[in-house]
Amino acid sequence: MLDIQRITLIRDGKEILHEITLSVGEGNIHCIVGPNGSGKSSLAYTIMGCSGYLPSSGTIEFNGQDVTHLSLSQRAAAGITLAWQEPARFEGLSVKDYLSICQKGRVDDKGLARVLALVNMSPKRYLEREVGESLSGGERKRVELASIVMMHPKLAILDEPDSGIDVISIKDIISLMQVLKEEGASVLVITHRPEIVNIGDSASLICDGRIVLSGSTSQVSDHYLERCRPCEVETVHGT
Ligand SMILES: Nc1ncnc2c1ncn2[C@@H]1O[C@H](COP(=O)(O)OP(=O)(O)OP(=O)(O)O)[C@@H](O)[C@H]1O
Ligand SMILES: [Mg+2]
Repeated sequence: MLDIQRITLIRDGKEILHEITLSVGEGNIHCIVGPNGSGKSSLAYTIMGCSGYLPSSGTIEFNGQDVTHLSLSQRAAAGITLAWQEPARFEGLSVKDYLSICQKGRVDDKGLARVLALVNMSPKRYLEREVGESLSGGERKRVELASIVMMHPKLAILDEPDSGIDVISIKDIISLMQVLKEEGASVLVITHRPEIVNIGDSASLICDGRIVLSGSTSQVSDHYLERCRPCEVETVHGT
């Protein structure tokens, strides 16, 4: 499904990602963990094809097609979506409008209610609200996640879907990811939360722009939680 081979990303003369190799199988959830500033969001932007994130070397294959040089909109049309770590504000656009433009084909109230229920938001209370300043950060994050389900993606990249979401609602995020999976999407989720890593099929630990460990979620989670402080990155690089 997604097959990344040795991508290196340089921005403003700084190497942000170094020879990242990673794959996500069809219908699988792959988790990316790693410390702040290690390159997780940069990897998400590189896969999505954001402007300024063309790798200097390496390839990105999606569904057997080389998408390394495709634009963001071409990748979106191929079925790749990204839920941003910091969701954008759209003043003047209602939640209903925002979710409706994410859906291909006809949108009905039942469909809107379904995706809002997944993020625990009442349609009555929220559909006519603007996706702007007046929504709280956590509410905007929820709308953003609902919009991903509306898009029926083949690959959903979720950049810290848990950030800004209260602890008791982490279970909503987990069930939303399971819905995406049940509907046939592959999910690449960047997270700091062990509960989310636990539901993955596999995981990778990224540190200083490099994948230092890939394997089972428990292996990666344990390594991250127990051995990354003090950082053992030199040791891992050497193995
Ligand atoms: N244009 C740039 N020039 C120099 N350094 C940059 C540039 N853009 C990003 N970086 C650096 O690249 C590194 C990776 O940033 P990125 O946002 O991908 O980290 P992250 O793992 O997502 O962190 P967080 O957990 O805080 O979200 C950071 O050290 C950041 O400062
Ligand atoms: Mg980030």
